Amino acid sequence: MSEHPNLTLVDHPLVRHKLGILRDKDTPSKLFRELVDEIISIMVYELTRDLEEEEIGVETPLEPMVGRRLKGKKPVIVPVLRAGLGMVDGVLRVMPSARIGHIGMARDEVSLQPGEYYFKVPRQLDERPVLVVDPMLATGGSATAAIAGLERRGADPTRIRFACLVAAPEGVRALGRAHPEVRVFAAALDRGLDENGYIRPGLGDAGDRLFGTKD
Ligand code: PRP
Ligand code: URA
Repeated sequence: MSEHPNLTLVDHPLVRHKLGILRDKDTPSKLFRELVDEIISIMVYELTRDLEEEEIGVETPLEPMVGRRLKGKKPVIVPVLRAGLGMVDGVLRVMPSARIGHIGMARDEVSLQPGEYYFKVPRQLDERPVLVVDPMLATGGSATAAIAGLERRGADPTRIRFACLVAAPEGVRALGRAHPEVRVFAAALDRGLDENGYIRPGLGDAGDRLFGTKD
């Protein structure tokens, strides 16, 4: 998108349909979790489009041929806790041998500043494509801090992708300023942030809706 050169919108009728149900305030946690999983499963084809491949010899039952396989070390999926956890299974379904890292990041409700409370990623991060997942990109603080942490531990910024369901323009811009090489994939780009740092129209608090912690 010309206004957001780092952003790819995964624009698909099924994604729009599912996102409409996800946003509905009356959608219960069980259905919310299923929809998050289904949407990221569709997005993953776009997210992984430029994974590197190499040629291999294959013997079909009829003749030898040249096939292809993914090149290099296994990719790593990194959910930003908590809400990113809801996006892991949908990616694993099509990339079952991916490694999984975890980054614990919680946004202070008043300052909106992210605080890191957990960080565990696989070895040889520098040789792996890294897919960071979190449903919401609001101010961009959590994503920016998570990616800075990955880069400090050796991740190659040109091989990091960030996938969210709903992005605010403020977050896309902030992430682009801090990490211009990192491509952002979103199912929707919303109007903007409100005074509490919530995305409008958004879908509310993704972690609470996934895990049923605000009833
Ligand atoms: C939410 C969301 C992102 C972050 C986005 O997490 O899942 O991680 O806020 O906001 P930002 O772009 O302004 O940083 P939250 O901190 O509420 O934690 P949770 O996932 O544990 O609910
Ligand atoms: N985090 C959420 O879960 N929702 C928002 O709208 C903003 C940050």
